[in-house]
This record gives sequence, structure tokens and C-alpha cells, in this order.
Amino acid sequence: MTRREAVAAAAAGVTIVSQAHAKPAALGGDPVRRKPFPGWPVSSSPEQEGLLRVLASGKWNRGTGQQVAAFEQKYAALLGAKHCLAVANGTSALMVALHGLDVQAGDEVIVPPYTFIATVNAVISKCALPVFVDTDAASFQIDPAKIPAAITDRTVAVIPVHIAGTPADLDGVLAAARPKGLKVLEDAAQAHLAEWKGQRVGTLGHAGTFSFQGSKNLNSGEGGAIVSNDGDFIERCYSFHNNSNTRKPAAGSSAFMSGWSGAPTAQGANLRLTEFQAALLMAQMERLETQSKRRDENAAHLSQLLRQIPGITPAAWPTGATRSAWHLYMFRYDAAHFANLPRAKFLKALAAEGIPASGGYSPLNRQPFLENILNSRGYQRLYGPARLKQWREQNELPVNDRVCSEAVWFTQTMLLGDKRDMEDIAAAIAKVHQFAATLATSSTPA
Ligand SMILES: Cc1ncc(COP(=O)(O)O)c(C=O)c1O
Repeated sequence: MTRREAVAAAAAGVTIVSQAHAKPAALGGDPVRRKPFPGWPVSSSPEQEGLLRVLASGKWNRGTGQQVAAFEQKYAALLGAKHCLAVANGTSALMVALHGLDVQAGDEVIVPPYTFIATVNAVISKCALPVFVDTDAASFQIDPAKIPAAITDRTVAVIPVHIAGTPADLDGVLAAARPKGLKVLEDAAQAHLAEWKGQRVGTLGHAGTFSFQGSKNLNSGEGGAIVSNDGDFIERCYSFHNNSNTRKPAAGSSAFMSGWSGAPTAQGANLRLTEFQAALLMAQMERLETQSKRRDENAAHLSQLLRQIPGITPAAWPTGATRSAWHLYMFRYDAAHFANLPRAKFLKALAAEGIPASGGYSPLNRQPFLENILNSRGYQRLYGPARLKQWREQNELPVNDRVCSEAVWFTQTMLLGDKRDMEDIAAAIAKVHQFAATLATSSTPA
């Protein structure tokens, strides 16, 4: 039996003949795969040449060189946004965008619990209150039907996160937010080139933010960007990220340094991207579409194989999503179909078969740091005991708890190889499924 037949057979619930007498690798058998998955980041001469050009120019910071501005133009055009501002990272992109949206201390911002902590930290950095809305079990994204109940007279914005690079239900989020006058800030940190009804995400809300941190599909080690069609908003963001200085010199003032206008307007910080990072992004952007297409094809093949294995449910796309960035490949694992093999043991068994996987996020809404913040002097004063008591009472998110306990993730780099890599993944899961009862009763620690 060929590997392809074995996968098809396994997927159809048929025993893999070639491995019928094999042991799971976790119990000393041969692994399905020994080959590593593609590495990350990918770089070659365009990155080297770009970096050396900046080095030789002596223009290493924004304001002296042209790379950051060139990147902003190119990225805005790529997404179909009018404006782009490059910043130090995805977290600061959120913080700066919240400033641009005039989110202030005492405001409330609606966030999903199934996200990286940075989404919530950005809200807290403005001394605003993050209010969690439960997750949709099928898509792992924010459930827009639950947004109205979370809106109070202090709510000013909603941050849908396109988790794993798949669009959140933007029609649902916008329909809940707009009639109430709430701003929608898309956290697209993981979602480069993802699309909602054919339009690139980040451009459907008031603004969108991106991360170019080392693991991301577009990568400069660290880096971030804000996109928007609102020019005034982008100028407020520019000023904030440039230590309060606007782009244009104030009338009659002499700017004392390159990049300084002598026209501070509001609060600010230094969150500028460097010319080196922009040069890396210009080079990485050349590969982005080709890599994205490869992920599209591989993810589709993998989903088709995995859907046939009982107990494995790939994350669904909300209706309206037309492209995922596949920053992560996520599925739900139902132990009931695997002889009650705990997820931790399932992950270990997969790793032993040569397939690295993780269990993803823990429930963010129940992390202890939130209680510390709620109990802080500032939050007690800003929100008062009655609102914070109500916040705690509403902070029960049973669907998200379940998703966190069932999720399994593969990283985007695993989708950059060929179809056979996907078949290895499916074969490994099918093998663990086949031997689940043995693995469940084995004494290997979870
Ligand atoms: C959903 C989400 N938001 C924000 C961020 C923050 O980006 P950065 O690490 O560039 O600060 C990340 C990074 O992983 C993310 O995944």
C-alpha cells in the first residue's frame, strides 16, 4: 500500500495495512515522519542586499532614509488601503491605533478571549476596560451575536481579531458596532492577505493593525503597521508614534531634529520602525503572495483529509471569509473519538510521529494578571466596585473554555512544504486514532 492509499484508507476509517502491526512512535514504534518541516524565516539575496544598502547609506532611522515610507506605500497598495503607518510592532500598532481612535481611561473596549495577550494589553495600556465576548465554537472567532449584551454606555470600540489569519465575522461585528457608534479596530496581526468578501482584512473597520514579529507570515523580526482610509486618524497615529510630533512643521517653528516638527499635539512615544526593518519587509513582501498560495493549497488538502478522521474538526470560516492567511492551522480534537485519550497525550503522540503541534491559547479572560489590574488603585477609581463586580459576573465564557481545551494548532511553516507533508500529518493523526485505546492506557505521562 502506498502512503497516499494509506492516508485515504486511514481517512476512511480503514486500518493502515502497512502500519497495522506497527506501534505508535510514542510507544517505541517507527514515526510516520522524520523529515523536518520547512524552516522560517525564508531569506536570501533580496534581504541581504536590502539590509546592506541601508547599512551603507548611513540612514538607519525613519526620517533620514526612504525605506519606511516606501514600505508604507507598498503595503497600503497591497491591501487596498488609503494609508499605512509602520510602527515598532503589532502591540504598539494596537496601542497607537487606540490613541488615534481617542480611546481613553474609563472607556470600555470589546475584545475576544481567543487571542494573544497583546490585544488586551493594548486596551489596558490606555487604562480602558477590556470586556470579553465569547467565542464561536465552529470558527474560534469572536461571536458577534454576543456583542450587543456586552455594550454599555462606556463602550467606545470593538476589536475583532482575525485569529489564525482567518477573518472574524466582520459583517456581524460591523452590524453590532456601527448602529451604536462604536469604532471597529481589526487586529489583523496574524492575517496578512486574508480577505472578507474579496476585500483584504484590516481595511473593513475604521482601522486594521498588523504584526511583523518573527513568527508572522510577513516578518522583520519585530515590526507592525496600522492601515486606514481615514487620513486624519493616521496623522494622529503618526504624531503619537513620533513622540507627539506631527509630520508637518508648525508654522514659525524650526524643527530641531530630523523627524521632529516642533509641533507636539498630544501624548506620544517613540514607536518608530527602523530603515533596516523596512528593508527586510520590502524583500519579504516579494514572497508573500507565493507563500500564501502555497499555504492555501496545502491547507485545503489537509482539511479534506482531516475532515474524514472521526473526532477531528478543522476550524470553520465565518460565511463571508474568502481567504485565510493560514498563520495557524487549527482544529478541534474530540477525545471521545480517540478512546478518551487526553489532548496532552494526543499532542505527545503526534510529536513522536514527527508532527509538532500545540494546544494553543489558555482562557485569556481568566488569567490572573486581569484580577491584579482590576484590583489596582486606578481601575478601582475609574470603574468603581459595582461595574467591576458586574464585569466579573459576565466574564464566564463557556464556549471559549471548551475551544481552549479542544484546540490543536499547527504553525504556518508546516503549510509551506508539499502535499506529501499534509499526508504525513493526516497519516500521523490517523495512526494515533487507530492506536488511541493503547495510547490512552499506556503509562507514558501526559
Ligand atoms: C492577535 C495578535 N495581536 C497582536 C499581536 C502583537 O504583535 P507583536 O508581537 O508584533 O507585538 C500578536 C502577536 O503575536 C497577535 O498574534
